[in-house]
Amino acid sequence: MDLMEFQAKELFAKHGVETTLGVVVETAEEARAAAEKMGGVVVVKAQVKAGGRGKAGGVKIAKTPDEAFEHATNILNLTIKDLPVNRVLITPATPPKEEYYFSFLLDRSNRQYLCIASVEGGVEIEEVAKTNPDAVKKIAIDPGAGVDAEKARAIATEAAFPEPVFEQAVTMIEQLFKVFVEEDATLVEVNPLARLAGDKLEALDGKVSLDDNASEVRHPDHAQFEIREEADHLESKAKDLGLNYVKLDGEVGIIGNGAGLVMSTLDVVAYAGEAHGGVKPANFLDIGGGANAEVMANGLDVILHDPQVKSVFVNVFGGITACDEVANGIVGALKILGDEATKPLVVRLDGNNVEKGRQILADANHPLVTLAETMDGGADKAAELAHDQAA
Ligand SMILES: Nc1ncnc2c1ncn2[C@@H]1O[C@H](COP(=O)(O)OP(=O)(O)O)[C@@H](O)[C@H]1O
Ligand SMILES: [Mg+2]
Repeated sequence: MDLMEFQAKELFAKHGVETTLGVVVETAEEARAAAEKMGGVVVVKAQVKAGGRGKAGGVKIAKTPDEAFEHATNILNLTIKDLPVNRVLITPATPPKEEYYFSFLLDRSNRQYLCIASVEGGVEIEEVAKTNPDAVKKIAIDPGAGVDAEKARAIATEAAFPEPVFEQAVTMIEQLFKVFVEEDATLVEVNPLARLAGDKLEALDGKVSLDDNASEVRHPDHAQFEIREEADHLESKAKDLGLNYVKLDGEVGIIGNGAGLVMSTLDVVAYAGEAHGGVKPANFLDIGGGANAEVMANGLDVILHDPQVKSVFVNVFGGITACDEVANGIVGALKILGDEATKPLVVRLDGNNVEKGRQILADANHPLVTLAETMDGGADKAAELAHDQAA
C-alpha cells in the first residue's frame, strides 16, 4: 500500500522525524478556514499517490486565506498523472534554503536494504542520477545489522550533509530507519529533506510504501491508511474477481498466463517502451491456467478501466489451456465488454494449438485487435500504440 504525503508524515511524526503535519481538507472552503486558523503564509498541496505534484501545479503558496481558497479550488480540479485530486494538505510555508534527497528501500535483488542520499535534491532524483551520478550516494545496509547511530553517522558522512545540519541529519536518518523497519515499509522517501532558515532540517515531502503482507497481522493500525480511490479501486475489484493483479504506473496494460511469463512481459514492454516515448507497463495481471472467456473478460474489464492504460498487450503461452481456447476467450471477452472495450489490443499467442488460436482471432477480425508473431514484436507494437494514443 502506497501512502499519501500527509499519511507518510503521520508515520514520520510517530517516530520523531522532524516534520509539519498540517491539515487535510476536501473542499476549498475548508482550505480557507484552515489557512485562517493557521495564520501566515501556507502551502496548498495536492494529495495524490504520485510524484511531481509541484511540476503539475499541485503545490502552491498562499499568502492569504482567500488565496488558499483560490489555489484549493484549482488544485481540487486537477488530475495529476491521471489521478483526480480529492483532497489537499494545508501546511505552513517553510521555504527551503537547500533541498536534499533521502530514502531507504528494499533491494530485493541483493537481499538487503539500500539507502539513497543526495545533497543535490529538490529536483527529480532520477534527473540528478543521470546528469550527476556521483552526487547520488547508494549505501548498502545489512538487514541484520540495521542502522544504529554509528551507521547513521557513516551515511551522513558519505552523503556529505553540510556541517551546520550534520548532527540533525544523523538523528533523522536513525529515525527514518525506524519508520522503515518498525512499520514494515518497502520504501521510505523524503524529497525534499529541506534545510530551512536557521539551519533546521525538516521532511517537507514524504513517500512511504507499506508491505501489505505485514499489515494485517503485524499492523492492524495500518488499515486507517486505506483510501479507496480509482487506482486502489481497480486492485480491490481484481481481488474480488479472484485475479492476481497489481497496478503499476504505466500506459500498456498487460495480461499473461503464469507469473514468470507476465514478469518477463513487463520487462520486454518496459524495454520496448524506451523507443516509444518512454511508455511503461500499466500492471501485472496473471490470469493463470484457465484462460476462458470469463476470466479474460474480467481481466480486460479491470485493465480497460484503468484511465492510465492506452493499449493492452495479451501475451499467452498455450499449455493445458490451449491457444484456441484463449482466442475464443478473447473474442468472447470483447463481446461481453461491447462498447466498453475502446483501447487497442495486441495479442501474441504461442504454444499448444497456436495456429488454431491465431485463425480464430483472424476470423473474428475485431477492429481493436492486432496479432503479433513474437513477444518482442507484440511488446513493440503495444508500446507504439500506447504512445500514439497518448499523443
Ligand atoms: N511546506 C512547504 N513550504 C515551502 N515550500 C514547500 C513546502 N512543501 C513543498 N514545498 C516546495 O514545493 C516543492 C514540491 O513539493 P513536494 O512536496 O516535494 O511535491 P512533489 O515532490 O510531488 O512535487 C518542494 O521541492 C519545495 O520546494
Ligand atoms: Mg517531493
